[in-house]
Amino acid sequence: MDAVAAKRAAGEAAARLVEDGMTVGLGTGSTATWFVAAVGARVAAGLRVRGVATSVATEKLAAELGIELIVLGAEGLDLAIDGADAVDPDLRLIKGAGGAMVREKIVAAAARRFVVVVDDSKLCSRLGGIVPVEIIPFGAGATLAALETLGTRFAVRHGIDGIPLLSDNGHLLADGELPVIDDPEGMAERLAAIPGVVGHGLFLGMADLVIAGAADGSVRELRATPALS
Ligand code: A5P
Repeated sequence: MDAVAAKRAAGEAAARLVEDGMTVGLGTGSTATWFVAAVGARVAAGLRVRGVATSVATEKLAAELGIELIVLGAEGLDLAIDGADAVDPDLRLIKGAGGAMVREKIVAAAARRFVVVVDDSKLCSRLGGIVPVEIIPFGAGATLAALETLGTRFAVRHGIDGIPLLSDNGHLLADGELPVIDDPEGMAERLAAIPGVVGHGLFLGMADLVIAGAADGSVRELRATPALS
């Protein structure tokens, strides 16, 4: 229940960043849903906004709320808002528990400002946890074996019916547990270099701002400290 209040506070605070006429990336997950709902309420009150959804689920929600949806084009987006599973002090993220990280990363990269909304349990001193990857079904066994060389076993995600889950892009999802990632940038490079890996859940150097909600409904804003030169 506390997490719900925290997620809601973060999502609603992020919705206040949306200005009339903006194009906005609409994230996926339980926290981003509060953001989309709050934007929907503002749209009902007259706000003009056009959105790009990061998943089929968010697309459906946005359509129900009357948020105009557009195709992501070369002009990019003014703002993208999305959740995360873990956030470190440099605003490096793990995303993808919902399996939408490939579209989420495309949308975040296309946005001139990427704002992350989390409940404060997601804040960590060192990045680590379950890292999801999206892999092409062809040769999945070989891809999983290559992933295992990174130091952990990646298991294909299954639905409750026992059938492998497919992403919105029609690919398999697999999860590997990396409790502490000493070198997130190196790990991201290694993940991306494996043939068959379409994308992964490490979002590094992408977030401009993190809004962390607390159980009492308050929020705090975290910004990445500029790198020392
Ligand atoms: C979706 O694929 C994810 O990246 C979510 O944004 C992330 O898992 C956070 O989800 P919650 O806000 O539901 O915790």
